[in-house]
Amino acid sequence: MTGKNQNCCLRIPPPGLPIKSELRDQFYALFLLMYVTTILGNLLIIVLIRLDSRLHTPMYLFLSNLSFSDLCFFSVTMPNLLQNMQSQVPSIPYAGCLTQMYFFLFFGDLESFLLVAMAYDRYMAICFPLHYTTIMSPKLCLSLVVLCWVLTAAHAMLHTLLMAKLSFCADNIIPHFFCDVSTLLKLACSDTRISELVIFIMTGLILVIPFLLIVMSYARIVSSILRVPSARGIRKAFSTCGSHLSVVSLFYGTVISLCLSPSANNSAVKETVMAVMYTVVTPMLNPFIYSLRNRDMKGALGRVFCGKKIPFSV
Ligand SMILES: *[C@@H]1O[C@H](CO)[C@@H](O)[C@H](O)[C@H]1NC(C)=O
Repeated sequence: MTGKNQNCCLRIPPPGLPIKSELRDQFYALFLLMYVTTILGNLLIIVLIRLDSRLHTPMYLFLSNLSFSDLCFFSVTMPNLLQNMQSQVPSIPYAGCLTQMYFFLFFGDLESFLLVAMAYDRYMAICFPLHYTTIMSPKLCLSLVVLCWVLTAAHAMLHTLLMAKLSFCADNIIPHFFCDVSTLLKLACSDTRISELVIFIMTGLILVIPFLLIVMSYARIVSSILRVPSARGIRKAFSTCGSHLSVVSLFYGTVISLCLSPSANNSAVKETVMAVMYTVVTPMLNPFIYSLRNRDMKGALGRVFCGKKIPFSV
């Protein structure tokens, strides 16, 4: 028998974040501002890429997908966090918790797979410039995106099913601001060894394989530039890969620092701060990294919003 039914509600300790109550309003305003910035920034990228036919290239279509995934990733945790900061008895229903976990994993993984697709695209653009347009056909791009969706849906579903099998005992308080896999595992009363092992292995694979693929793409890019070193080649590589490389470093930088920080002395506060880093800061910065450093995006901004006619290219 499981005790799920009598524990329909998992409580999140007020305010879900270790914040002093005097500062709660300031933090609320800060998070609201970050939420609005992220939504608007990513929406702007999606709209720009949709409207400007010059940006209908694989790189920007992947970027638009990445923005969409950032937007959703952020919306999985943020509204609930904001609501809990205002409520006296913050709580989340059991089903809501599992749903949140599913979509959190889904969009988190999607982001890491899309970064691989983008790295592959850059690799093709730099190492095979002459065959680039034939290789990266719309059909291949769409297949890559669909593959990303299928893999992450399967992975998130596996985790969620494993979690749904566990039972939780009376009065569960989640010492975190969202339903995170490792936090929920610690709360479960049933035997979690198998789930923990599967989750550990799968998470490792889902993080390490994309990371290795990205490193491999960049190793090839660097070696192809070094073979025929020229100032122009290096500049071209930097201008096309710079933004992607920044986003990759930000994403894996936070993930790796999270994994490397020893779990033994991980206080709840430190864990929460790290989680804020990867749930809030990464999706918020992506649009800025891409738009501010990128001439094409700025050009598109001018064309779309300053009323200049957009020429339709074939
Ligand atoms: C995602 O990428 C596919 C394939 O390149 C593209 O057709 C689709 O429009 C993109 N989706 C979004 C939301 O940009």
